Amino acid sequence: MAEHPPLPGDGESYWMHTTPTTSYAPLADDGAEVDVAVVGGGMAGLSTAWELALAGRSVAVLEADRIAAGVSGHTTAKLSAQHGAVYAHLRRTRGAEGARWYATSQLEAVERVFATVAELGIDCALERAPSFVYARDQAAVPGLREEAEAAQEAGLDAEFVTTTGLPFEIAGAVRAGNQAQFHPRAYLLALAEELSRRGARVHERTRVTGLTEGSPCRLTTESGATLTARDVVVATHHPVFDRALLFARLSPWRELVVAAPLDAAADPGGMYLTTEDHKRSVRTAPLPDGQRLLIVTGEEFTPGAGGIAERFLRLERWMWEHFPVTETRYRWAAQDLDPSDTVAMAGLFHPGARHTYVATGFGGWGMSGGVLAGRLISDLVQGREPVWAPLYDPRRLWPALREAPNLLRQQADVAQHFVGDRLRTRHPDQVGDIPPGEGAVVRIDGRRCAVYRDEDGTTHAVSARCTHLGCLVAFNDAERTWECPCHGSRFAIDGSVLQGPAVRPLEPCDPQ
Ligand code: FES
Repeated sequence: MAEHPPLPGDGESYWMHTTPTTSYAPLADDGAEVDVAVVGGGMAGLSTAWELALAGRSVAVLEADRIAAGVSGHTTAKLSAQHGAVYAHLRRTRGAEGARWYATSQLEAVERVFATVAELGIDCALERAPSFVYARDQAAVPGLREEAEAAQEAGLDAEFVTTTGLPFEIAGAVRAGNQAQFHPRAYLLALAEELSRRGARVHERTRVTGLTEGSPCRLTTESGATLTARDVVVATHHPVFDRALLFARLSPWRELVVAAPLDAAADPGGMYLTTEDHKRSVRTAPLPDGQRLLIVTGEEFTPGAGGIAERFLRLERWMWEHFPVTETRYRWAAQDLDPSDTVAMAGLFHPGARHTYVATGFGGWGMSGGVLAGRLISDLVQGREPVWAPLYDPRRLWPALREAPNLLRQQADVAQHFVGDRLRTRHPDQVGDIPPGEGAVVRIDGRRCAVYRDEDGTTHAVSARCTHLGCLVAFNDAERTWECPCHGSRFAIDGSVLQGPAVRPLEPCDPQ
């Protein structure tokens, strides 16, 4: 048995648990043609497909697994233009106009969801709610005051406050009114259904493995089926085709989520975020019995960091200490990508791109960011360019240079994993040292293998060398997966890809 106590709740996201599994057919034909192919069926991909379908384009969505089941099925689903304390930072790095563009575009995205929900009559628990960034440490107050002022100047309904609905004292907070929260899968599954009803192609279990840019572009899939499209949008969280070496400007991180029923009278009435206490985020969602589901997120870590079970237990303890809950019902984990220069990337893929686009690097704010990316890329495909488009342009260079320390830190981290993880001797020498329910990287005949021993004692071994760029994967003891610390690829015990940028499974490895 694993050495940690039992983990709290069902290991499934509430959003996944309360929505049906989808079953769109894989792409089977060879040489099908559409105006636009969207690779990736999450918030950004489906939003892009939706906007383009509304504009009269023929569209195909190609999803490697199931739609809205990756990052979008495991988000905390805050639909907000308040992204931590981003506005004071943007004002410093992009000027007052840049901060205003950011606020305008994100607020428009929030309202876009309200318009779509109203138009299609989607039942997705969409609620207006204020958003808060708070601190309990007095030392943080001047920074919060500055953020409130910058957010207000940028166009948010923002103010500095010292009281909130949280059941504990705070030193201060920035309150942004008129934000929203919803059930992301209820929204996205309805959007996909409507897309399909309108004649768009939605294909699941269709892993795209090749992209040839041209006029038209050509996509090839794992099964051998192909598709041609005038325009291609890569919206796979971490871009599976990285023509612009964006991986060098993106840092992956994961965080954990626990959720528990909460009496409606104890609802803190908003969405909360603090960077204190290992980062904590709080929101609630309506339950059918009239209670609320308290959703607490935190414990941010780099994929492959280890000790995940311990982190889950610490997060649960925090929830129980601060809220009157009696049963942890769900637990899950989410993964995000931080761009080195703060702002998400949505637009033409690389300097030579004419018909290929990318949406990535939402930094944990992929709900409003995904909708925004959809509108932006749809406009670009149609030859229009919103005034704020340059802010999100993936080809930008000067903001990345201005925030070069972040970029250098990211690259140093990757180098540390690439070299350091090989030199370290923390791995067991023998497969026999691995207890049931655990996994470890073991050297076998000079080759590093990722070995998992199941509860029955059977070992499952695959190569520990990530198929993206060769870093060593590490075991996640709570989710029982292999994770790559360099760019965030995740693999199942059998080596199959759960999350890119890797597109090929880990190779087999003989543990005998
Ligand atoms: Fe890039 Fe593993 S994800 S090397």
